[in-house]
Order: sequence, then structure tokens, then C-alpha cells
Amino acid sequence: MKRFLVAIDGPAGAGKSTVARQVAKRLGLVYIDTGAMYRALAWKALRDNIPLQDEESVTRLAESLTFTLHPKGISINGQYLSHEIRTPEISAAASTIARMLGVRRVLVNKQREIAEKQNVVMDGRDIGTNVLPHADLKIFLTASIEERAKRRYNEMKAKGLPADLEQLKKEIRERDDQDRTREHAPLKQADDALLLDTTHRSIAEIVENILQLCRNKLSNRE
Ligand code: CDP
Ligand code: CDP
Repeated sequence: MKRFLVAIDGPAGAGKSTVARQVAKRLGLVYIDTGAMYRALAWKALRDNIPLQDEESVTRLAESLTFTLHPKGISINGQYLSHEIRTPEISAAASTIARMLGVRRVLVNKQREIAEKQNVVMDGRDIGTNVLPHADLKIFLTASIEERAKRRYNEMKAKGLPADLEQLKKEIRERDDQDRTREHAPLKQADDALLLDTTHRSIAEIVENILQLCRNKLSNRE
């Protein structure tokens, strides 16, 4: 049977990974966190003292890595990474290397290869516009900047980490601006994506909404 592909894009803290993971689980699809690939690559570049502005070297590094996605983390060449790629420093570094055409070509190819073999829910910034332009369902998740910063703040507090709401807001705004205005595959709602604002809506509500949309698409294919 033809693959069933769901694309979820949106800015930082919109709820993409939480929602995508639950939708995938409920429908028996594989969840692919493409942001984790950019984060893992940035982490490895910093680890290997590769300057983040050096496109050639970062692209070569990306080519040399095998990325394996796990339910709660990612491994690169067999090395498992989870919380260490979720720091503010790695968020900013991921956004920096994500501007590079060479890096995007390598990672997008790997993402497409994954989606060729299985039914997936893939989340990121350019899934509906670029990675999977023929996805069966495209969702663009968003929420106000205040709400998104508050969510990150609550997450950090829950982990016992120090957090400053205004600082988080500033970091998210800067990263979103960089992601939206970059030349290659910027963060953008695809023309055929459905916009869902999660500001005043619970995770369960959004998940149900997307599940219903998936079921409609699936029943139309039968
Ligand atoms: O992947 P993305 O950066 O878009 O967001 P996330 O990591 O899935 O969600 C950020 C935080 O917001 C998580 O702690 C979610 O539990 C929370 N969230 C929420 O409170 N209400 C929603 N409707 C969606 C997410
Ligand atoms: O979880 P959060 O929404 O904060 O970020 P993420 O999805 O883990 O992505 C981290 C960074 O990787 C983003 O700010 C983008 O710059 C980049 N990214 C991208 O360019 N394209 C993707 N498909 C996924 C992530």
C-alpha cells in the first residue's frame, strides 16, 4: 500500500514533537524528529571543534554521520544523545547550521530515505514545504510567543533547571526570526497545510483533532 505521511511544522515550542509523537503512537506510525538531527549535528560539530560557520566542514561532518532515531533520543554513529542536545546553546547552534544549503541537502536526503521505507509523522520546519511536499496531511502548529516561552519555562522548572522567562522569550524569538528569514527552506506554512493554533488548546485536544484529520484522509484512500 502507498505510504501514509504526515508533516507537522511550526516554530519552537508550538507543541510539534509532543503532538507528533502521540499521533504516531495512536496510528502505529513512526515518529521522526528532524530537529533532533540538526541538533545532534550541531552538538557533534561543537564537540569536534568545527567552527559553526564553516559550511564545508559541517557538511562533510553531516555526510559522515549515520543518524538513528529512537523514541526519546537520537544516535550518531552509535553514540546515544538525549538531554545534551536540548540545551539553549545547542538550540541556537542547530539554527545556525540549519541555514547552510550543504547541510540541508544531506539531512533532507536522509529524512526522505527514512520516509520511503515506512509510514511516518515527521516534524520540523520544512517538512510540508520541502522534505515531503506530497505528504497526505500537512499541519502547521503555532502558539503565541508568550505561551511558547512559558511552556519551555515550565519544562525547565520541572527538570529542576534554572530558567528565566524573558531570556527564553528572547531566545525563541531570535531563533524563529533566523529560521523564518533564512534563504534555504525557511520556516513557512505550506500552501496546503492546515494552521492549528495551540495557544489555548490542550495537547489531548490537538492530538484528537489531527487524528480525526488522519482518519478522514485514510478513509478517502480506501
Ligand atoms: O516540538 P516543539 O518545540 O514544537 O514543542 P514541544 O517540545 O512538543 O512542546 C513544548 C512544551 O509545550 C511541552 O512541554 C509540551 O508538553 C507543552 N505543550 C502544551 O503545554 N500544550 C500544548 N497544546 C502543546 C504543548
Ligand atoms: O524543539 P524546537 O522546536 O525548539 O526545535 P527543533 O525542532 O529541535 O529544531 C532545532 C532547530 O533545527 C530549529 O530552530 C531549526 O533551525 C532547525 N530545523 C530545521 O531547520 N529544519 C527542520 N526540519 C528541523 C529543525
